[in-house]
Amino acid sequence: MKVLSVSSEVFPLIKTGGLADVSGALPIALKAFGVETKTLLPGYPAVMKVIRDPVVRLEFADLLGEKATVLEVEHEGLDLLVLHAPAYYDRPGGPYLDPLGKDYPDNWRRFAALSLAAAEIAAGLLPGWQPDLVHTHDWQAALTSVYMRYYPTPELPSVLTIHNIAFQGQFGSEIFPGLRLPGHAFAIDGVEYYGTTGFLKGGLQTAHAITTVSPTYADEILTPEFGMGLEGVIATRIDNLHGIVNGIDTDIWNPATDPVVHTHYGPTTLKNRDENRRSIAEFFHLDNDDAPIFCVISRLTWQKGMDLVANVADEIVAMGGKLVVLGSGEAALEGALLASASRHPGRIGVSIGYNEPMSHLMQAGCDAIIIPSRFEPCGLTQLYGLRYGCVPIVARTGGLNDTVIDANHAALAAKVATGIQFSPVTETGLLQAIRRAMHFYADRKLWTQLQKQGMKSDVSWEKSAERYAALYSSLVSKGM
Ligand code: ADP
Ligand code: GLC
Repeated sequence: MKVLSVSSEVFPLIKTGGLADVSGALPIALKAFGVETKTLLPGYPAVMKVIRDPVVRLEFADLLGEKATVLEVEHEGLDLLVLHAPAYYDRPGGPYLDPLGKDYPDNWRRFAALSLAAAEIAAGLLPGWQPDLVHTHDWQAALTSVYMRYYPTPELPSVLTIHNIAFQGQFGSEIFPGLRLPGHAFAIDGVEYYGTTGFLKGGLQTAHAITTVSPTYADEILTPEFGMGLEGVIATRIDNLHGIVNGIDTDIWNPATDPVVHTHYGPTTLKNRDENRRSIAEFFHLDNDDAPIFCVISRLTWQKGMDLVANVADEIVAMGGKLVVLGSGEAALEGALLASASRHPGRIGVSIGYNEPMSHLMQAGCDAIIIPSRFEPCGLTQLYGLRYGCVPIVARTGGLNDTVIDANHAALAAKVATGIQFSPVTETGLLQAIRRAMHFYADRKLWTQLQKQGMKSDVSWEKSAERYAALYSSLVSKGM
């Protein structure tokens, strides 16, 4: 089976969040199930810098108004199709934001171009390679299935994965003509969304199957609280909605071999974590004592409950805990967390920024990772935490609910607990969870059991890749 995957970020080339991890790891896991994936992504400067000896495979004289080429290149096990369109992607700043943190005003055109290029490849434009199915990720790629429906091309099945329904790619109606779709695509069964142009909305109407990145999130987005306005559209597609939990790349995330981890370890050599713990204490200027180190590795946003962390930071210290935070995001949250660190030198350390190696070392040296998300489609840092013996303390929502087994009495007695879940997602809820963690941590045997049980959890892609492969096969064999 041949699959064209379309994503606006792909690890290890370009990453702002979990989407990159997933679109970088899933194609590799799918190989075992006979799925050959080519991944189309934009040629941002970071991408153009690392690819070696790409081959020009396709040229567009006018891709929504700009010239573009599709370059094919192999990179760390991934077969990539890079959409090289300097007018769209060769800019300082990130994939979506300019250096001042503002959305590029032409993001609609940048990602419509990505989607249109994908639809052209789906239609057989790439010499010698015809995919059997197209798999798109999030709003940035969601117009692909819209172009596939409205352009007269052979019908090919498509799967749209929702990584986060909070990001919908909603633009004014005035951009619609620029998409070069027929006028009747601006309708309720197309991209029209309360008078605006909805990229994700259009994808939800036109993809043959829709997946979310966890089963709980699939249920949640059917409700007004989590559906963010799209719950009605999702409800009409419920027969084609599937929740498939994310896995992680267990080769990249392996505490026994991870190159940035100072002292390697496994479930029977957990003592080796102490050395990594010392490195963390040093990096964040913490006192080197036995008090548990709680960590946060996150975008600093309301979704992630980072205001709650800032508000309970003093109490974590008062309870005898230490806290380290790695992240960046909303200025007010960055400020509040930095202020908590300056109130508690030696007990709280905050590093603002994006630091991939440090995120590995923190999982390998901290005692627990706090993830108090208000909603979390899947979440990956709890999976890394499980794999690294960094006990996850998570809000009971989305993929956090599906991947962490709460240490309640029954789960502890059955020795299946892997972390702590809490609800409601409030300061009190979070503090109670941290109090429970402090209590467990004081009992070394119990804590070690939690760590070991977590390390035994299957967080690999294997089962989920098999589910994607089965979904692909069912769509291809239905001939739609
Ligand atoms: P989301 O995609 O919603 O931000 P996920 O938990 O799915 O949340 O994925 C976040 C990914 O980004 C993880 O791989 C995590 O380790 C990484 N990450 C988040 N913030 C940072 C940071 N400041 N430095 C390094 N890695 C980070
Ligand atoms: C999104 C979600 C996150 C998920 C990631 C990868 O960024 O916010 O929960 O883990 O996508 O699917």
